[in-house]
Amino acid sequence: MRDLFKRVPILLALASAVVLVGWQVDAEPNRTTLPELAGLVHYTTVRRGNVTEHIMTTNEAIQAVKTGQPIPDGTHFVLVDYREGAVFRYFVMEKGRGWGADYDEDRRTGDWQFQWFKPDGTINMAENTARCQSCHSSRADEGFLYTLEKLKEFDGAVVD
Ligand code: HEC
Repeated sequence: MRDLFKRVPILLALASAVVLVGWQVDAEPNRTTLPELAGLVHYTTVRRGNVTEHIMTTNEAIQAVKTGQPIPDGTHFVLVDYREGAVFRYFVMEKGRGWGADYDEDRRTGDWQFQWFKPDGTINMAENTARCQSCHSSRADEGFLYTLEKLKEFDGAVVD
């Protein structure tokens, strides 16, 4: 019995170490925020099976792309993923001055950071946003965006 009591603090320390390490591996809070969607312009819809994605950004970003200017700092892109008519998740990209410096060069996606928000606005702690960056880095020539062409096409009516 006495031996067991001696070990309790060690066991507790081990358990909290496991929790902490687990947290560091999975959770990825960063600078990305979930914006007010009402302030954004829905410019294209992507449909795939039971998934419908509404993709939106700011009017300023649309004007910048159309006039060949860099997308302004502070811009959000939001992909609202609907399944069976309800929001399933929000994928967000946000750009900020110098934000790329938060990451090593081999992971960096310009000054863009990525985040997965649940329908209640909390972060999906099980996602490592390096995956987002890895896939979107193949679009470096298009501002790390997959739908830049749709944005250029957009003239006020949602591009399907
Ligand atoms: C395997 C590749 C891949 C991964 C991983 C990925 N994306 Fe994307 N993303 C795409 C594609 C392709 C599109 C275009 C829409 C579509 O086809 O569904 C897209 C579109 C977007 C858009 C709309 C702007 C744009 O680029 O056109 C946002 C915002 C976005 N993704 C955020 C994220 C976030 C956040 C994550 C991680 C949680 C993520 N993506 C992971 C491939 C990926």
